[in-house]
Amino acid sequence: MSDIAAIKDKYEGEIAGASDLKALNDIRVAALGKKGEVSMMMRGLGQMTPDEKKVMGPALNGLKNDIADLIETRKSVLELEAMNAALAAETMDMSLPVDVSMGTLHPVQQVMEEMAVIFSDMGFSVAEGPDIEDDFHNFTALNFPPGHPARDMHDTFFMEQVGEEEKKVLRTHTSPVQIRTMINQKPPIRIIAPGRTYRCDSDQTHTPMFHQVEGLVIDKETHMGHLKGVLMDFVSAFFETDVDVQFRPHHFPFTEPSAEMDVRYERVGSEIRIGQGEKWMEILGCGMVHPNVLRACGLDPEEYQGFAFGMGVDRLAMLKYGMPDLRDMFAADTRWLGHYGFSPLLQANLATGLS
Ligand code: DAH
Repeated sequence: MSDIAAIKDKYEGEIAGASDLKALNDIRVAALGKKGEVSMMMRGLGQMTPDEKKVMGPALNGLKNDIADLIETRKSVLELEAMNAALAAETMDMSLPVDVSMGTLHPVQQVMEEMAVIFSDMGFSVAEGPDIEDDFHNFTALNFPPGHPARDMHDTFFMEQVGEEEKKVLRTHTSPVQIRTMINQKPPIRIIAPGRTYRCDSDQTHTPMFHQVEGLVIDKETHMGHLKGVLMDFVSAFFETDVDVQFRPHHFPFTEPSAEMDVRYERVGSEIRIGQGEKWMEILGCGMVHPNVLRACGLDPEEYQGFAFGMGVDRLAMLKYGMPDLRDMFAADTRWLGHYGFSPLLQANLATGLS
């Protein structure tokens, strides 16, 4: 019997000293494996007298169970240590300093974020649509009849037709997001939709890719007064000064009545100052959503009404931040971006100022 106690002591010491899972497994095989020390002793039970067996049987069983328990306990400890070591080795030092001088926010991105901040304060949310549109969303549902000259005025990039599919276009404006929103969402609707737009045009004031922000409000009672109020509040918040505006009658197929909004400005040397002055500059188109547009989206014009507006982001960015040439915006020149870009760590907000 003292043998058994000695064997247990021996393994207890070895198990406690096992430094990894492989060493522990070797000990298990040496003690409890098929040809292990304890297994061989148990095999010896067969040659014993019944009296010896009565004593040695339970003693050996106990030894086997004790060793198995010791191994299990040590195994959990070693597994935990292995896991902690792996976690420590894979840790990243998040406190490493970031070099913020490495990149800046493009002024277009900055201005779109400023607009989102101003309009979300008025209860608008931000919607998106695809750059590649179909004729229905870009034109037909917006009340451009087939063959209407306005389709050409948009200098559309048409894509090659694939099979039976409807011909695709690069969207010429963000207005198709109005259609997608009205089809997918029940009024009341209050959204703005910033994004890229495309027209086949290129000179000092036009680039084939440019940016617009669309706005749409639909419910049962919204009228032209709300349209004017929202846009007047918007320009003053955006230019961070009082801005005098005027609305001029205009024509868009998708609104009736339609208007363009101008802001007062003056030139001081080579600088353009928005807000006051003798001259007017057009900055956006707007109007009450045309009944045909509501109908194309499955809304009853007897029940629902609202307004829409659309404006060019790039030009507003140029006016606000004094950039002289539109084409520089998309030249991807890091010196230009270093000069006109914005810190990625400063978020536009209404409390501490937009920029
Ligand atoms: N989609 C027009 C354009 O690109 C801009 C526009 C005008 C949008 C009036 C509107 C609107 O939503 O009501 O020229």
